[in-house]
Amino acid sequence: MSTSAILLVGGMGTRLLPLTLKTPKPMLQVAGVPFTEHQIRKAADAGIAEIVLATSYKSELFEPYFGNGERFGIKIKYAVEKSALGTGGGIRNAANLLADCDQVVIFNGDVLSGHNLAGQLEFHKKNQADITLYLTQVEDARAYGCVELLENKQVKSFLEKMENPISNLINAGCYIFNRQIIDQIPQDKVVSVERETFPNLLATNAKVFGYLDNSYWLDIGTPAALVKASADLITGVIHSSATPNHAGDNLISPSAKIGSGCVISNGSVIETEVVVESNCQISGSIIGSGAKIGSNCKIIDSIIAPGAQIQAGMVVLTNYLGF
Ligand code: GTP
Repeated sequence: MSTSAILLVGGMGTRLLPLTLKTPKPMLQVAGVPFTEHQIRKAADAGIAEIVLATSYKSELFEPYFGNGERFGIKIKYAVEKSALGTGGGIRNAANLLADCDQVVIFNGDVLSGHNLAGQLEFHKKNQADITLYLTQVEDARAYGCVELLENKQVKSFLEKMENPISNLINAGCYIFNRQIIDQIPQDKVVSVERETFPNLLATNAKVFGYLDNSYWLDIGTPAALVKASADLITGVIHSSATPNHAGDNLISPSAKIGSGCVISNGSVIETEVVVESNCQISGSIIGSGAKIGSNCKIIDSIIAPGAQIQAGMVVLTNYLGF
């Protein structure tokens, strides 16, 4: 049984504005690399040989960094939607580039998770499912796609974002589709996999299963979540092959210049060519390439854009400056 993958990276990332004005969400730096690199490595680690990036917003920015994928041990192809086709339309469009395969793992481009992908694939095969959704449990399910499961782990209902959630099990953004099921999604049309494809498939009695895995899960779609994801990767709360051997307190580029008396902690990342003058305190933050931080600054749980200049003595608390 051969497995390929599609990575959905075409969204506008409106919740992350203004960080996404020039850079699409999946290309924002998280723990020193574009976020997408963590997911590509996860797919490669699970033995997947090929991944198609379903791009739309700022599509031209992906290929120069990822190339043909050789560097990451996986073949990478690029599908481009001239105008965004939504999650379902994006999957259908990207599937045209897939080599022959039996099933396709589909990743939302904004989820950092420690879930057991090999386990999900095993579960999918064992149940001879048409689709297997990775699910996680949350306290407040209102902002997510909510799933009700039967005793045998088959999905009974799927309801996107609702005021009174039917359960606390949510769609965690990684699906396995049997290859031929994708062909049921209309071609060249805007389709939402969450609002149309899943409910339609359930209505036609397709075998949709839910794979519950409560390990680390984070939707990086807001600035606060993005900076938390980065710090969690650096401090080793969650592992990624894109940032190997990282269980330190910070990640400082060798080309950065750090003045005397600075304390850089709680998973902060100091990217290339950054200058931090003396006696700064930087905690849980990302300082983008080439930024200059004046002396005696305090920067906590914040993101400073590449090239930004922060004046001496500034206090920056959960803020996102210079984008
Ligand atoms: P927000 O606008 O902040 O909600 O972010 P978003 O645009 O990324 O939307 P959302 O978080 O709902 O998207 C979930 C995943 O699907 C993300 O990885 C998006 O990149 C991706 N996505 C959303 N819309 C499209 C689309 O039209 N085409 C493709 N290829 N991917 C999409």
